[in-house]
Amino acid sequence: MNDGTIVELAPAKLNLALHVRRRRADGYHDLETLFAFCRDGDVIRLAPAVADTFAITGPFGATLAAEGDNLVTRARDAFRAAFGVAAPCAIELEKNLPIASGIGGGSADAAATLRALARWHDVAPDESRLFGIAARLGADVPACLLGKSAIGEGRGDELRVVDGLAGRGVLLVNPRVAVSTARVFAGWDGVDRGAITGDPAEDRNDLTAPAVAAAPEIATVLGALEALANARLVRMSGSGATCFALFDAPADARSAAAAIGAEHPGWWWLASELA
Ligand code: C5P
Repeated sequence: MNDGTIVELAPAKLNLALHVRRRRADGYHDLETLFAFCRDGDVIRLAPAVADTFAITGPFGATLAAEGDNLVTRARDAFRAAFGVAAPCAIELEKNLPIASGIGGGSADAAATLRALARWHDVAPDESRLFGIAARLGADVPACLLGKSAIGEGRGDELRVVDGLAGRGVLLVNPRVAVSTARVFAGWDGVDRGAITGDPAEDRNDLTAPAVAAAPEIATVLGALEALANARLVRMSGSGATCFALFDAPADARSAAAAIGAEHPGWWWLASELA
């Protein structure tokens, strides 16, 4: 792409905790979650062009391209409708994160697309219309647009920024099993286990049991992470299957990744740092 290219990182999203409180009449669930973001993820590149194009590259590009519909082009079209702009552009999505994996994926890509278009069209990143578009694209998209540690309530889109755990090392591990978010929520047992405290050590992920029922490999991943020396907190993110371990320092996450990679060569992993 030419020098006018706008590059936006679409960081991996983590739910350090996720408490499901009740089923709603609209098919969603009221939840309380603690969002955090990594310093690595997918990448969106956007450049002015004579006609619209959309290309998907990266290690998980082929899998995603096979699905057809994409939140990136839906975000582009929603932005244009809301802001009354039509200039064509070339968008590239570098898909580094596994899809349907509980770490944002499509939501992060949609949010990065909105950020890139906002930069191009001189729209302030905190413009309320951007958050309105984000909420219509998906429950996690507003959190990804904000991109900061936050407590999410309601569907996960009522956000309150909190102090995060910036600088901690984090290891993400996925057994390369795609999990349907809708199916995992549908498997929740309906028991309200209480409010989030905001202290990840005290909190939990209520979707772990239904996710393990859908993908038993998740229990193996959690066991392998719990066996790591220095891991401070081990948990599944979102509706899975990606699980994470937090460490005091990024170097600890990198050595843990080497150990996990040697023991389970078929698993996907990412050693990163919390933002
Ligand atoms: O909003 P999004 O398309 O990401 O949500 C995917 C699915 O996850 C929803 O269709 C719904 O089944 C489930 N979900 C839910 N409650 C939430 C968020 C998602 O039941 N708060």
